[in-house]
Amino acid sequence: MVIRLQKFLADAGVASRRKAEELILEGKVSVNGQTVDQLGAKVDTERDEVFFEGRRVIPVTVFHYYMLHKPEGYVTTVKDQFGRPTVMDLLKDVKERVVPVGRLDYDTSGLLLLTNDGDLVYRLTHPKHQVKKIYLAKVFGKPDQRAITLFRHGVTIDGRKTEPAQLELLEELGKYTLCRITITEGRNRQVRKMCEAVKHPVATLKRVATGELDLGDLPRGKYRALTEKEIAYLKSL
Ligand code: URA
Repeated sequence: MVIRLQKFLADAGVASRRKAEELILEGKVSVNGQTVDQLGAKVDTERDEVFFEGRRVIPVTVFHYYMLHKPEGYVTTVKDQFGRPTVMDLLKDVKERVVPVGRLDYDTSGLLLLTNDGDLVYRLTHPKHQVKKIYLAKVFGKPDQRAITLFRHGVTIDGRKTEPAQLELLEELGKYTLCRITITEGRNRQVRKMCEAVKHPVATLKRVATGELDLGDLPRGKYRALTEKEIAYLKSL
């Protein structure tokens, strides 16, 4: 099969398709001994030998999908330049080269998907993809109707309005309120910035669901394989 080089790398679990494009442009990929640093190259999956950072990239035929309950204090990258713990430290027993689907901040906990299905990572993290993400946020103060309405209409952060979002109050906790927040995008620190913009900064943040996938009672720091039904659901998105 002849496919684009970035798709080959994504399918092999090296990185998401977008990240693979960056790796190519950075000159880290070679095909049959020649560095390819331009986009547009195609490879024959049966014949061509692709190397990434000097190691042969073998096409993956079996995909694996996991859900992790990320604790606070872990970065969502495969390697951290500052030596902080990464989510990969929690998946030491996983032999496949899985990568996180999107990102949770260092100080955010909750549901994180990981897979070696690069195509799925690409599709789920593409901006046009609007899967609901549900967060439990402990925010300062008590959001009033105005804040709720602002969320419903979209909040301007970094000079651009978000898609409509949902803010529901669950419980008053002294000077904080526990809220359920639903967004459909994955902009950088989006929930924190939205709460800040309506004057109720976040104290703690946890993602509890991505679409129909629910964190359930998976303990902090633990992971599990997704069920066949959950995988079929993700692929149907
Ligand atoms: N929004 C945030 O602010 N942080 C996250 O980690 C996820 C969504």
